[in-house]
Amino acid sequence: MSKQTTAQDAEGACAKVPRHVAIIMDGNGRWARKRGLPRLKGHEEGASSVRCAIQCCRNYGVEYLTLYAFSVENWVRPPSEIRGLMQLLRRFLKEDEHELHEHEVRLRVIGRMQDLPRLVQSGLNRVMKATEHYTKGQLILALSYGGRSEIADAVRQIAEKVKSGALDPARVDESTVAEHLYAPDVPDPDLMIRTSGEMRLSNFLLWELSYSEFYVTDVLWPDFREEQFAAAMDAYARRQRRFGDVGSKAVC
Ligand code: IPE
Ligand code: IPE
Ligand code: MG
Repeated sequence: MSKQTTAQDAEGACAKVPRHVAIIMDGNGRWARKRGLPRLKGHEEGASSVRCAIQCCRNYGVEYLTLYAFSVENWVRPPSEIRGLMQLLRRFLKEDEHELHEHEVRLRVIGRMQDLPRLVQSGLNRVMKATEHYTKGQLILALSYGGRSEIADAVRQIAEKVKSGALDPARVDESTVAEHLYAPDVPDPDLMIRTSGEMRLSNFLLWELSYSEFYVTDVLWPDFREEQFAAAMDAYARRQRRFGDVGSKAVC
């Protein structure tokens, strides 16, 4: 059975295809070390897994894909590794932009984009602008992203509105916070995948992952391809999401 058919079957049964998948792409360094290669080779191979994940989402009908590409904490890495990662990002924007146009996928960024090198920022801004009208899917890159920074940035904006009198503190609730996050219109991830086996969030989407299903695999990110993506989708399809209910009925 083709992937497409599986996805359609599942959708028909009970929306078993996640609408939004978020991935912590971890293990590039370990992949390279295992082969006696420099870490950057692992990142390069990881970029091929990014292309594969984008294609898999399209095949399954996943609308939103958020990729944790660089965290606020990652700035402590050696400058040469950071430079290499930024170069890879620029290469991706150049070489893969046509794919976004071809499939009408909108590119977005969450995180403190102002921290990124100017050339990377301009590349991102260009592609985001060129794809902003597309509605078939969204590729969201988390860059210089931190979940705590995101919440802190939201709180600062809310505080400013309260200070100016535009917002009554008594009316601040969960939706107020959600509306001030980096991509407020994007639905929360249904499925969060982490490669390389670490059982931690590493500051990823702390607010948005509240009720997401987690899938952690020992597979290293450069080895996470079609077959591994399919395994994650199958695992998700078997989950019963309860959202605090007793679970006597399936909640899709
Ligand atoms: C993930 O792979 C990529 C980034 C964090 C940018 P790592 O570079 O963290 O790989 P490991 O965890 O050292 O194997
Ligand atoms: C998480 O991976 C960040 C990204 C995948 C971009 P890390 O490798 O930075 O996370 P830790 O340090 O193992 O928690
Ligand atoms: Mg890592």
